[in-house]
Amino acid sequence: MIYQNAQVVIGGEIKKLDIRVENGRIAEIAPAIKGDGLDLKGLTVLPGLIDMHVHLREPGFEYKEDIGSGSRAAVKGGFTQICCMPNTKPVADNKVVISYIKNRAEEVNLCRVHPVGAITAGQEGKELAAIGAMKSAGAVAISEDGKSVKDTKLMANAIQYAADFGLKCLCHCEDESLVDGGVVNEGYSSTFTGLKGSIRAAEDIMIAREICLAESLGLPVHICHVSTYSGVQFIREAKARGVKVTAETCPHYFTLTDEAIRSFDTNTKVNPPLRGERDRLAVIEGLKDGTIDCIVTDHAPHHADDKNVEYDLAAFGISGLETSFALSYTALVKSGEMTLQELVNKMSANPAEILCLSGGIIEEGAPADLTVVDLNEEWTVNPAQFVSKGKNTPFAGRKVFGRVKMTVVGGEIKYKE
Ligand code: DOR
Ligand code: ZN
Ligand code: ZN
Repeated sequence: MIYQNAQVVIGGEIKKLDIRVENGRIAEIAPAIKGDGLDLKGLTVLPGLIDMHVHLREPGFEYKEDIGSGSRAAVKGGFTQICCMPNTKPVADNKVVISYIKNRAEEVNLCRVHPVGAITAGQEGKELAAIGAMKSAGAVAISEDGKSVKDTKLMANAIQYAADFGLKCLCHCEDESLVDGGVVNEGYSSTFTGLKGSIRAAEDIMIAREICLAESLGLPVHICHVSTYSGVQFIREAKARGVKVTAETCPHYFTLTDEAIRSFDTNTKVNPPLRGERDRLAVIEGLKDGTIDCIVTDHAPHHADDKNVEYDLAAFGISGLETSFALSYTALVKSGEMTLQELVNKMSANPAEILCLSGGIIEEGAPADLTVVDLNEEWTVNPAQFVSKGKNTPFAGRKVFGRVKMTVVGGEIKYKE
């Protein structure tokens, strides 16, 4: 297959090039490759996007999402690789569940799915999960996502054991005692709505703790879904003194603030919560200056019954795979905050590097994982058109630029609009 006449994001530049794919790999990249191919005039080819923070819900919560529907949502969103979090039922805390997820994903055969194992058995925070066995079965990292590991000594052990197996801890940062049942950010909007707020310190204290552990142990940690200005600053300062810390944020933290909760739309309920304008701007600044390495979705699909209840009772989470690229492109590139190449690094090369995945680069010999987008197409988010089972988005009706046209994984077209 030859992809012809596209603009290609390659080596930090955008160039008009043809790409010839053979046996699942990029065989040749040149200005004009002869032969019958697919004309991509007017479109842009990106290295296949990678989302290192997704919830696929299988096993156990297939009524919210399963590996099939989640993979379809991923390739529709332009993702060629995703990492799925272990808060399933049973919890992915052993090699059997990790192997099950890998096997199911291979049967589905759409995007590459990398399971993340739990840090503690049953995510109960009492004893470490079988980290080595999970690594052998294919886990690419460990995480307690959905909560933090409360016991600091246990967390220190986790970081150390994980490092022995070449894995990183992906840290969901939340001090439960400070959250204390809060469902939104504490501030004017929580007072206005009467919804119980939780303060930034609930997130910041855990970010600071994980940084302290990384620094003392001389080992890496990765901070999940950063949402506070103070959290961004902690990470910036830690990086400046050489701590091995990396970080991610999600589109909702740089496109929305807690003003959105005043609608009482439960699709705005997410953990960590939407914060204030100062936080939103700091997250953008953090992305621009390299403090925040990646953009992830934290794709958290829920059934309508989990959301169609009082705000206090609704589940936390946003279905994000099908809107992530367009929201990010619109808010960050179209607005002039960063270049397309910089955005693509946050959504491809950087997550690949953090988790030691192959991918994130277009070069001869690399796996032919490609995302084809139309940057000029404007469209309106409509959850009824989501292929994810989770229709829970606070972005319904929002106009965005950048439409995924085609997703190629290992040389095979897995999605085509
Ligand atoms: O909003 C969230 N949803 N935050 C989390 O940490 C977990 C996730 C989920 O699993 O639904
Ligand atoms: Zn989380
Ligand atoms: Zn998550």
